[in-house]
Amino acid sequence: MSGKYIHVSVAWPYANGDLHIGHLAGAYLPADIFARYHRLAGNHVLMVSGSDSHGTPISVEADKRGISPRDVFERYHERFVQTQQKIGISYDLFSHTDTENHHKIAQDFFKLLHEREYLYKETQTLLYSDSEKRFLPDRYVEGTCYICGYDSARGDQCDNCGNLMDATKLINPRSKNNPDDALEIRTTDHYFLALDKFADQILEYLDGYQENWRPNVTKFSQNFVKDGLRGRPITRDIDWGIPVPLDGWDDKRLYVWFEAVMGYFTASVEWAHNIGKPDEWKKWWYNPDAKIYNFIGKDNIPFHTIIWQAELFGVNGIYNEGDDTPLQLPFDVPANEFMNIEGEQFSKSRNWAIWLPDMLERYQEDAIRFYVARTFPERQDSDFSWDGFLVRVNNELLAAWGNLVNRMMGFAYKRYDGVVPSYDELTDADKDIIAKTEAGFEIIGALLESTQLKEALEQTLGLAREVNGWLDTREPWKTIKVDEADAARSVYTALRCIDNLKILFAPFTPFSSQKVHELLGYEGQLFGDLKIETIKEETRDHVALMYDGEKAIGKWEKSDLQSGQALQKPSPLFVKLDPEIVDEERQYLGQPRDEKPIIVGEE
Ligand code: MF3
Ligand code: ZN
Repeated sequence: MSGKYIHVSVAWPYANGDLHIGHLAGAYLPADIFARYHRLAGNHVLMVSGSDSHGTPISVEADKRGISPRDVFERYHERFVQTQQKIGISYDLFSHTDTENHHKIAQDFFKLLHEREYLYKETQTLLYSDSEKRFLPDRYVEGTCYICGYDSARGDQCDNCGNLMDATKLINPRSKNNPDDALEIRTTDHYFLALDKFADQILEYLDGYQENWRPNVTKFSQNFVKDGLRGRPITRDIDWGIPVPLDGWDDKRLYVWFEAVMGYFTASVEWAHNIGKPDEWKKWWYNPDAKIYNFIGKDNIPFHTIIWQAELFGVNGIYNEGDDTPLQLPFDVPANEFMNIEGEQFSKSRNWAIWLPDMLERYQEDAIRFYVARTFPERQDSDFSWDGFLVRVNNELLAAWGNLVNRMMGFAYKRYDGVVPSYDELTDADKDIIAKTEAGFEIIGALLESTQLKEALEQTLGLAREVNGWLDTREPWKTIKVDEADAARSVYTALRCIDNLKILFAPFTPFSSQKVHELLGYEGQLFGDLKIETIKEETRDHVALMYDGEKAIGKWEKSDLQSGQALQKPSPLFVKLDPEIVDEERQYLGQPRDEKPIIVGEE
């Protein structure tokens, strides 16, 4: 198979709580739409991510519940896998960072960087909590931001101005767990990544790409560079994480951000191993023609536009001896902004959130996908509102797409003996509307390729509306009584347009496109299977989500629907939402929540 090599690297969610609508809107749904488009277009897609199992977000949750960090991340990792299978995020591999594979490769990265003298040791000054008898990791520290004055900046980053923080510089630093605790500044040894050694390469890289990047990504990256490309500590005084592979460093671990970004690489290697082709990952990572896209939220930008690049520059050639092809760097980092909820920021502690497992219990996957994609925060923060959900699902997805399919498929099935009608010659209006939907493949394809996903959906919906408008002028349900030949032309045309729209909608709403595909009398699956597998390693097993494209036959190509093809008896594509859901759902916001088991059905 010819085709381009497209790597879809998706941010690794901290496995310390369920997935929520912000995760979906920020990274996973954009990544999935993009990946599905490229799969239909016949390109070689490798889409990977996994649970971020280390870091203080996991330890904080473990302390809060009085259980181990491993218990916390394993619980949520499993729920992540189930939730994402349900909503159809088609990862070739969704793994986690506590696998043997990830540990080993992360340690190899460290050793190579160390050997090549890109790491240096330094005595660091840190905040020490006497009552907890330990150095406080950045995330355990809060204080006033020394850049913008925000009073609840975290030790690692200020959520108000977005700048990365040096915890010891915070004004009035306090421990998150014991806010009354006086913190003391003490010293400890750590390894640093010498970002300055990569300064020329990073600047050249940023210059080369920034023009095509989204403005927010460029802005954050430039600010980071302006701040100075200084060394950054990559080890921590903690016990949960990946051991530092050096003698005498037993009580320290690799910093979570240093190793989590490597997941894009390690999961690619794991995927190749899992499918029994151990070198297959090189087709993306050591292929100058491959393109790597990092789908992330805006709070993750500098890690994906500067630090990850430095790591890749530093280990260039790893596992590829005797070949001087350079490792591939991200081609684009399409970061989304945040999705607020009913006008307020997401908050885990206040339970101001829309949890995906809960939402999936009550609504169709494609209804959720459709609304979220219509509301993607691509250029600025957006808002999830239940009112908006109701209106867009009923008045757009159902009115423009679902009803078009229902009424025309129903009509054709009943009036033409359950087959696609034959016709003599189409009218100019019929030919025009077919041509319009056909032109969508190029226009919408180009938007998807340049990650303008929201606009791509808008155009797709626009085409469905045009088909409805054309149909209202053709009225086969009336003409069939007076001019059968003309009715047949318009019904054929409608079905052919629906066949085109089925593919154009497929990256966004794959479940209903599959259904339309079957109603039109086709066999086979537009996309492959998304399976939950247990992967065995020597000392521990892990569950993973794995997309298997073997059976996929869907193509980003215009319809060639033939008269006489047997249709299936239609049933409605979408459930119409009751206006009462708006008040009902709003009541859950800000209230305590029960975390129910996730029911996994067939896919
Ligand atoms: N776990 C981080 C978060 O949820 C994201 C990590 S992305 C990675 O914000 F690339 F570093 F893995
Ligand atoms: Zn700030």
